[in-house]
Amino acid sequence: MFRFPVCHGSVLVICAFTLMTMLPWSWAPLSAQELTVYSARHYDADRQLYELFTETTGIQVRVVEDGGDQLMSRLRAEGRNSSADVFITVDAGRLAVAERRELFAPVESEYLIKRIPSHLRHPEGLWYAFGQRYRIIVYAKDRVDPAELSTYEDLVDPKWRGRILVRSSSNVYNQSLMASMIATHGSEAAEAWARGLAANFARQPQGGDRPQIRGVAAGEGDIAIVNHYYTLMMRDSDDPNDAAIWDQIGLFFPNQGEGERGAHTNVSGAGMLRYAPNPEHAQAFLEFLASDAGQEAWIRGSREFPVVEGITPPLSPDEYPFRADTSVSAQDLGRWGVPAMMLFDRAGWR
Ligand SMILES: [Fe+2]
Repeated sequence: MFRFPVCHGSVLVICAFTLMTMLPWSWAPLSAQELTVYSARHYDADRQLYELFTETTGIQVRVVEDGGDQLMSRLRAEGRNSSADVFITVDAGRLAVAERRELFAPVESEYLIKRIPSHLRHPEGLWYAFGQRYRIIVYAKDRVDPAELSTYEDLVDPKWRGRILVRSSSNVYNQSLMASMIATHGSEAAEAWARGLAANFARQPQGGDRPQIRGVAAGEGDIAIVNHYYTLMMRDSDDPNDAAIWDQIGLFFPNQGEGERGAHTNVSGAGMLRYAPNPEHAQAFLEFLASDAGQEAWIRGSREFPVVEGITPPLSPDEYPFRADTSVSAQDLGRWGVPAMMLFDRAGWR
């Protein structure tokens, strides 16, 4: 029998919705109504995510937001005294670090396994991806014909000499991109690729992904390698400068040709913590994140792509049809993250 703490008026709508999505915890009686989330995500829309979870389950959520690395240090310092139940972070590389530091406990959930494809979750349930992000090429529409663009591998071609903008190799997004190159081509070829790419830089890497996009619009370089959602934030921004930049740039999803592996896919995700005081609530929260309502709320702020089918993505598939790389799993990205850092040094990509 479905149990729900309060089920009147507007809440009734949510109850009905919950039944429709058939979440496994919909039937379970809920005890101590509390959950603590450590999150490296910083979106206003995430507040709605937590509120929706509370409305649906009656479990109150306490959120601590900070950088991913800071939260991991804090978790390590707190040890078994930590009050945190769930850790949310971005990038497969950071999920792998949390895994290596033994911060997570496995969650066995048929619902999560059914909802999330295997390349987007840890094989033993230590973490699950809830959003997908693509590292794409942004180009200046007035200086680059998209027909000139093809693959990540092609970016070493001399035709791109002095034209490529990308942030520093100390950034985890680039480390995961490099990890995908190692997983696909092996270390030697990946190092040669990084060296060739660095030779085509328009300037020494500086700033985050957004400044690279601005650099393309300002003519400092002709193409940039960035995570897709930064362009969408500009598209949706109230700032007229961002809207003007959106008009000047094109988005290119690499490696789409026949036999190519698709655009480099990274994730944001979460796992239950090893010393979680409320493991049942942690599991309920992870399952909520994989529900239709949870997925919609997850991508609303981040403009990532959902991990479950049937949720409207932030970019129209008619306008931007593309294939994501499913050949390199999120776990592989984590596995090759450390070798990637060493190769960057040797390749001269600062
Ligand atoms: Fe980001």
